[in-house]
Amino acid sequence: MKATELLKSTRSEEIALLDQLDLKRLPRHVAIIMDGNGRWAERRHLPRIAGHRAGVKVARETIETCARLKVPALTLYAFSLENWRRPRAEIDFLMRLLREYLKRELPSIHKNNIQLLVIGRSAQLPEAVRHDIEKAMRLTAQNTGMKLIVALNYGGRAELVDAFNAILDNVRLNGLSAFHADEETISNNLYTAGLPDPDLLIRTSGEMRVSNFLLWQIAYAELYITEALWPDFSREKLLEAFVNFQQRERRYGGLGVSDGRRNGRHGGAR
Ligand code: FPP
Repeated sequence: MKATELLKSTRSEEIALLDQLDLKRLPRHVAIIMDGNGRWAERRHLPRIAGHRAGVKVARETIETCARLKVPALTLYAFSLENWRRPRAEIDFLMRLLREYLKRELPSIHKNNIQLLVIGRSAQLPEAVRHDIEKAMRLTAQNTGMKLIVALNYGGRAELVDAFNAILDNVRLNGLSAFHADEETISNNLYTAGLPDPDLLIRTSGEMRVSNFLLWQIAYAELYITEALWPDFSREKLLEAFVNFQQRERRYGGLGVSDGRRNGRHGGAR
């Protein structure tokens, strides 16, 4: 099926972008740092929470677009370990918003065969939030479509600490005195074990930082930073990111197809 049909898009800007997309070369895992809700609200003289409400709408649309295009995995950075430094009222609002979102959207997530996963130190989340995410993960556990991963109370360094401790526990428990860890051991003990590493990391609001997000997993990810604030990150802007991703040449430290040396131009053949 063509991308325009998958998205049932009628907007000419979107159609033009969809026509450029190769559905077979979409990122296998898209990770997004959703940034700029507060600034979006401030610019409109609204309270910060209005920016978060607008951000949820965009998250919903982004999830739908990725699922329709059959992106295998999408990770959204919803709440970091550092976000506890925000005012209590804002934290409580974000937690409420997440529960509201789950309550409203879970039936449609499930109907669309999406599997919901939550990564982060969930034991430190409020009881009610934990209850709702466990219920959502249980309900969608057998779904075979897109994996929607919500990073909640997440920190990349904390994830590595948790992985190392899990490895050490296993070594002690099984008395593996000659054990040597390798990259696979570490990957398999991260919260994201079994998922492909992100090939595309999107960050909104123009900040040039990775903010402790998926530190191990983004080793080879293409970075796409847009000035758009998260509540303005429309479907068209997401498609622009995908088109841009497909125009990049990914070399993983080797030589690219357009590199002259590969064609013998610098290799002494001529
Ligand atoms: C950044 O804006 C956003 C967050 C702290 C995360 C909250 C995300 C949402 C409400 C989107 C909803 C997601 C799901 C999965 C339902 P900011 O407050 O850091 O903005 P600022 O940098 O402009 O202050």
